Amino acid sequence: MKNIDPGMKNIDSFTHARGESIYLDDMPLLEGTLFGAAFGSPEAHGKVLHLDLSEAEKMKDVVRIFTYKDIPGINQIGGIVPDELLLAENLLHFNGMPVAFVVAKSVKAAQAAIKKIKIDIEPLHIITDPREAKEKGELIIPPRTFKIGNTETAWQQCQHIFEGTAETNGQEHLYIETQGAYTLPLEHGTIKVYSSTQGPTAVQRHMAVVLNIPMHRLEVEVTRLGGGFGGKEDQATSWAILCALATYHLKKPVKYSLHRLEDMRMTGKRNPYSSDFKIGLDKNLNILAYEATFYQNAGAAADLSPAVLERTLFHCTNSYFVPNVSATAFCCRTNLPPNTAFRGFGGPQGMFVIEAAIAKAADELGIPAYKIQKKNLLKTGDEFPYGQKAASEANECWNKAEQLYEIDKIEREVAAFNSTNILFKKGISFMPVCFGISFTKTLMNQARALVHVYTDGSVGVSTGAVEMGQGVNTKMLQVAASMFSVDPSKVKIHSTNTFRIANTSPSAASATADLNGKAVQIACKAIIERLKPVAAEMLQTNQEAIQIKNEFVWTGNKQTDLTWQQLVLTAYIKRISLSEHAHYSTPQINFDASIEKGHPFAYHVFGTAITIVTVDCLRGIYEVDAVKIVHDFGSTMNTIIDRGQIEGGLVQGIGWMTMEEIVFDKEGTLRSNALSTYKVPDIYSVPKIIDLHFLETSKDNLAIMRSKAVGEPPLMYGIGAFFAIRNAIKEFNPTATPAFSAPITPEKVLLSLYSKSYKGSQPESFKALIKEHE
Ligand code: MTE
Ligand code: HPA
Ligand code: MOS
Repeated sequence: MKNIDPGMKNIDSFTHARGESIYLDDMPLLEGTLFGAAFGSPEAHGKVLHLDLSEAEKMKDVVRIFTYKDIPGINQIGGIVPDELLLAENLLHFNGMPVAFVVAKSVKAAQAAIKKIKIDIEPLHIITDPREAKEKGELIIPPRTFKIGNTETAWQQCQHIFEGTAETNGQEHLYIETQGAYTLPLEHGTIKVYSSTQGPTAVQRHMAVVLNIPMHRLEVEVTRLGGGFGGKEDQATSWAILCALATYHLKKPVKYSLHRLEDMRMTGKRNPYSSDFKIGLDKNLNILAYEATFYQNAGAAADLSPAVLERTLFHCTNSYFVPNVSATAFCCRTNLPPNTAFRGFGGPQGMFVIEAAIAKAADELGIPAYKIQKKNLLKTGDEFPYGQKAASEANECWNKAEQLYEIDKIEREVAAFNSTNILFKKGISFMPVCFGISFTKTLMNQARALVHVYTDGSVGVSTGAVEMGQGVNTKMLQVAASMFSVDPSKVKIHSTNTFRIANTSPSAASATADLNGKAVQIACKAIIERLKPVAAEMLQTNQEAIQIKNEFVWTGNKQTDLTWQQLVLTAYIKRISLSEHAHYSTPQINFDASIEKGHPFAYHVFGTAITIVTVDCLRGIYEVDAVKIVHDFGSTMNTIIDRGQIEGGLVQGIGWMTMEEIVFDKEGTLRSNALSTYKVPDIYSVPKIIDLHFLETSKDNLAIMRSKAVGEPPLMYGIGAFFAIRNAIKEFNPTATPAFSAPITPEKVLLSLYSKSYKGSQPESFKALIKEHE
C-alpha cells in the first residue's frame, strides 16, 4: 500500500472537456432501433373516461402504442410503498403521469403521434398544498415523531418562546443529461438496459416485476450520468421499463431520452415543505426546547418521500444540541409528480426550519442570530433526538472560520459599508452544518466490488458505484492504485453492471465512495494476501517480509528486482486466482423505527459557512459577495474533487434558497416548466469568492481512507445565503420581517424592503432615496 496523491485530477476531466465522454445519447445505435415517447396525463387528477389512440396509431412510422394492458407482469413501480403505477389505468394522479408509450421509427414520429392521442377525463378535486392533504387525511404513511427530553415541561423553564412558520419550495434537478434509457433484446429472453440511473439494481428489480422476467435476465449497464443529484435514484426506473416493455413485445432495440420539457413536467423534484416551529430559550440563550411540525409535499405517490421525511427528522436540530425536542412529520399526498431524493435528502428542509426559528428568536430579542447559534453548537457526547451521540465538536469548524476569516474585520467592514450606503446594504450569516453519513435504512449500507488483476499487471475494478460527476470513479481508482501500490494508469474503473455486481444500493446518501471503496480495499487485500506467498517463494524468504511497493516487491524495506508484473504473471502460471469479489457492510449502525432511536450514521460531517451578500435596495436584486467555509474532511483523499463538490453543492444550495422557484398553479400544472421561467444559478450568480479551508481532523472514522463523504453536506451551506439576504434587508428596513419562505427571490426582497412599516422606520434615508432619484 502506498499513500495516495490527494492532488490527482478527475480521470474524466480531459474527456469531459473535449466532449469525448460517453453518455447515453452518445452511444452508437443498432440498426432497427426504435424510439419511444411517453404520453402524460394532461390533467392533475381525474378518471379516464376514454382513451383514443386510433389517430396516433395511424401516423406515419408509428410502430405500436403501449398501455397498461400490455404489461406482462405487475403494473407497479413503488419502491417503499407499492402505490405507483408504471402506466395509468383508470385514475390519473398528476399532470404528466405516463398513460401510453408510443414507439416509432424516429423521435420525430413518436413525438408527433403523442399529439394525436385523445383522452376524455372526468375531473376530480386537485390538491397541491400539503396542509390541505393532511386535513383531508391524504397521508402516504402514518406520521412520525422524534422526541428527546420533554418539551411540555421544558417550556415552563424558558425565558423566551417564539413560534412561526417556514416554507421551502421544491427544486428541479436539472441534471444536464435528461432521463433516458436504451434497451436491447438478447437471446433467451434477456434484455440489456443502458440507463441513466443512480440505481441500476432499482431499475432491474422493478423491471423484473413489471415484465415478469427474473432479475438474472436483466443486464443494466451504466457508464456515467450527466448528473443525477438524487433525481435518478428512483425516477430513472420508469423510462427504462417503458423501453424494455417495448423491447419485450417487439424484440427490437428501443431508446427514449426525454426532452428537457418532458423531463421537467413528468419527473418529481425536491419535496417542498411547509412547517411550524416553536422554540424556547433560557435567559442565557440556551435553546431548551424545540418543536417542529413538517408538512412534506410528497406528490402523488410515495417514491422516496417517506425516507426523505425521516432524514428531515434526523436533521431537524442541525448542528445544535437541544435537550427537549418533539418533531413530527407528515408525508402528504398531493396531485403533483411524485417528489423524490435531491441532494441533502430532506436534511436541508429540516435544517432550514430550525435556522428560521433561531432567526425569529434573534429578531425578537434584537440580537444577531449567530449569538444563539454559537451558544448551542453540538459538543462531543451530546445526544441527537434519535439517540446517537455526537462524536465531534461543531465549534471546531465554527471557531476556525471565525479566526481564519477574521470575522471581526468582516463585521467592521460590513458595518462601515452599511453606514455609508443607502441603496446598497450588506448582510452576513453563519451556517453551521452537521450531516449524518449512511443510508438511513440500515440494510442499504452494503456494497460489493469485483477486482481483476490481468496478467500484464493491469487492474480492472467493478463496483456498484455510479459515476455521475461526483468523481467516485477517480476515488475508486485511487483506492485500488494505493492498495496495490501501482501507478494510477494501471487501473481502469469499469462500467457499473448488474451482471458483474449484484444487488447494489443506489449511488446516493453521499456514501458511495465509502461503501464501494471499502469493498475495493477488501478485494485488493485478498489478492495481495495470495500474491505474498508467491513472492516469498520466488525470493526464498518468508512472506511476512514481503511488501509490494511502487510496482516492485520489497523484502524487509529493500527493493528487489521482482516486479509487480512478473509477480502477477508467476501467480497466474501457478494457478493462483488474480480476481476477487468482496463485500462490505458498515459496522456499528442500527436504527429501530418502532422507538425512533438508534445509531443510524457511520459518522457526521461538520462544517461552517460565513456568507456575505449585498442587496440592491432599489431593485431588490442581490449578489453573494463571498462564502467562506471551513469543512471537516477528516483527511481528504482528493482535494480537487472535494473542492468541486463543495463549490457545486454550495451553488446548488444558493440556487434553491434564492432563485429557483417552482410554480404549480391550482390545477397542478407546472408553470415554471422551462429554463425561461425557472432560473438556476449561472456563472454570474455564483459567489464572487468561495474560500474553502480543508479542516483535517485526526479522530478515527469509518470513511474511506478517513476521507469523509462530501457529496451532499455542502448544499446546506447555501441556506446561509437566505439568512444573509434577510439580514441585509433588515439593515435597510429594521422593521421588516421577511417571511421564512424560500426562495427569497428579488420579488420577495423588494416587497420586504418596502413593506408598510418602511417609511416610518427610516425617514431620513427614505427621503434621501427619493431625492436621489427625483
Ligand atoms: N455531483 C455531481 N457532479 N453530480 C451529481 O449528480 N449528486 C450529489 C452529490 N454530488 C451529484 C454530485 C448527490 S445527491 C449525492 S447523494 C452524491 O453526490 C452521491 O455521490 P457520492 O455518494 O459518491 O458522494
Ligand atoms: N439518502 C439517500 N438516499 C436514500 C436514503 C438516504 O438516507 N435512504 C434511502 N435512500
Ligand atoms: Mo443523493 S439525494 O442521496 O442521490
